[in-house]
Amino acid sequence: MKCIRFLLVALIMNFFVALNAGEGMWIPLLLKALNEAEMQSMGMKLSAEDIYSVNKGSLKDAIVHFGGFCTGEIISGSGLILTNHHCGYGNIQSHSTVENNILKNGFWAKSHSEELANPGLFVRFIDEIQDVTKVALMGVNDQMSDSERQSMIDRNIEGIKAKYKLAEFQEVMIRPFYHGNQYYAFLTTVYNDVRLVGTPPESIGKFGSDTDNWVWPRHTGDFSLFRVYASPDNKPANYSEENIPYTPKHFLPISLDGVEEDDFTMVFGFPGRTNEYLHSAAVEQTVNDLNPAKIEIRDNALKIIDKYMRSDEKIRLQYASKFARVANYWKKWIGESQGLKSTGAIAKKKKIEKEYVDKTGNNELMDSFTKVYSEIAPYALTRDFYNEVALRNIEMLSMCRNFRRLVSSYENNGLEGYNNFKARLDAFLPSFYKNFNATIDQEVFGSLTKLYVDKIDDAYVPEQLKKEWMFMRAMEDHNALGAYLYQKSPLVNEDAVNKLLMQNAEDVIVALKNDPLYKLGEDWDALYNDQIAANYNSRKTIIDSLQRIYMKSQMEAFPNKRFYPDANSTMRVTYGKVNGYVPRDAVYYTPVTYLDGVIQKYIPGDYEFDVPAKLLELYEDKDYGQYTDTNGKVPVCFIGSNHTTGGNSGSPAIDAHGNLIGLNFDRVWEGTMSDINYDASICRNIMVDARFILFVVDKYAGANHLIKEMKLVHPKKK
Ligand code: ARG
Ligand code: GLU
Repeated sequence: MKCIRFLLVALIMNFFVALNAGEGMWIPLLLKALNEAEMQSMGMKLSAEDIYSVNKGSLKDAIVHFGGFCTGEIISGSGLILTNHHCGYGNIQSHSTVENNILKNGFWAKSHSEELANPGLFVRFIDEIQDVTKVALMGVNDQMSDSERQSMIDRNIEGIKAKYKLAEFQEVMIRPFYHGNQYYAFLTTVYNDVRLVGTPPESIGKFGSDTDNWVWPRHTGDFSLFRVYASPDNKPANYSEENIPYTPKHFLPISLDGVEEDDFTMVFGFPGRTNEYLHSAAVEQTVNDLNPAKIEIRDNALKIIDKYMRSDEKIRLQYASKFARVANYWKKWIGESQGLKSTGAIAKKKKIEKEYVDKTGNNELMDSFTKVYSEIAPYALTRDFYNEVALRNIEMLSMCRNFRRLVSSYENNGLEGYNNFKARLDAFLPSFYKNFNATIDQEVFGSLTKLYVDKIDDAYVPEQLKKEWMFMRAMEDHNALGAYLYQKSPLVNEDAVNKLLMQNAEDVIVALKNDPLYKLGEDWDALYNDQIAANYNSRKTIIDSLQRIYMKSQMEAFPNKRFYPDANSTMRVTYGKVNGYVPRDAVYYTPVTYLDGVIQKYIPGDYEFDVPAKLLELYEDKDYGQYTDTNGKVPVCFIGSNHTTGGNSGSPAIDAHGNLIGLNFDRVWEGTMSDINYDASICRNIMVDARFILFVVDKYAGANHLIKEMKLVHPKKK
């Protein structure tokens, strides 16, 4: 009884702490002024200077923007990079063949010479961050129109850039922050020789796949290893056999001591995009209109694809990656809407607005928001529908855009333009048709065009669709149009397309222009461009400018409140604590998962939950090496209250002393609304425990040479 009471008190205390910490994605340059004291009060033993410095090696020198879409970190003195399996996925896939399927079996280079080059892949280091707001906004005033303002800023930015003396492979990027109220310059260095060093098999790196995606409790070993190479004098260089492993200014030691509830954590990386300062009208639109629309469309598409994938192994392979891509955000939006509701996000925004009006008397600004959001509503909904139906989920319609480019290449640049584009198309077609099934696409076509016609104002429905659907409804035959188009058009069939493209250019153009699918796609795009795009964009410009004014005015009205800038793919620091959460009534999730949980989820032969034999063996033999928790178990994942988003994949989780303790790769479903409304009660990021990564590299893969080049430390055992 006492024990339970103690636990309860501990839980309540936890929530108290968690409620006060976690929110924010901060600019490393400003940590000293804004965050250092709080971070230290939460347990951090470092100074802001240890995290970001231009005068000495600091944590930031170990963090890279990986390929421009993920984060990675250096974990050895020889340029070894850790990132997610799903970040390395494209490259891992491109090295996989039927004979040597490293996606399926994993891969571990035994020496530097076995590490695999990845043309096109780069990592970007941040050399220095500077506040350039004053110069960027020079000459800008409130009387200017939006476009005058923007061209003035563009000119100023060009001027700032011109002043930098850049070394080879150095680039400077200038980005707006706080909705255009501040500007920061990022001096960066790009390394273009990045090689694949190791990856676990998918059954570890993607364990749980779509079923477990966005879900806690999680058991995925979502990591892969790469290495940065440099010229023989350690300078950035394009790929060359001469290149050597890069010696970094700093690399992260790895803690073997793990985490416990309430430990300080910090996540360092490149979050992509958030919208934390929306007006309540925008959140209402997201929750009531836009998310439900997008979810319903993808729901329909996914159900059809899933049905075929389950019935046919070939289709399963063809559609696995597409399905994962469509399902990823589908699932995120469901969680997001639910979380926005459960945390009362709209009421919260309204409260902020009331406080703002009470303080400033600026009712007018709030009215302008309400007005423009009601104006943009039909365009925003149609835009999302169009994007999801005609651009993303009916593959043939999106494919037709390539054929249209062939036609316009011919019309604008004659035979030469035609041949140039045709060469690119020829190279692309096999990879498209390899994973395309016309029967599935036809069914998706039928289902999604019906939704579109049902839900969207007649004025925005292409004539042909409108007429055919009237007819099909009358005849009670909902497949007629799809059946007609997909039978009639040669574009749905690879052989027929190749045959078509063998004719001379003039004949190809005529045939394409008469193709019924091509024509429908063309009409639809034209209608969208005429009726929606301009109307949407003009309102969006107004919203952006209101948002800029609102942001600035809030920062002036509440000088003691700390505001953090929305994510914009620039380097940020977020910090919080290891904490469980209550996903629903009477349920509490503890913050760490173990290898036992992998075994509990194990379904032999299943494509999501199979477990490799060697891992089962290690588990049977309890052959865990030094990679256990104090309870003798191997930890797999843990969660914390760090505020992360897409782009933070592959970000390091760092302890109070600056050591790596985990690898960020996801968020919990209930808390995915943190992009719009962070709420410390249920927003958690998910990380692979560093010890699981080491366990897999060492015990599972036997890649002890990699462990040797890392620096393993015991910060908790003094
Ligand atoms: N939800 C994570 C992130 O957005 C992981 C996605 C990759 N994994 C997957 N099963 N689809 O992007
Ligand atoms: N999986 C995401 C990514 O690829 C990270 C999860 C999130 O959105 O927080 O960046």
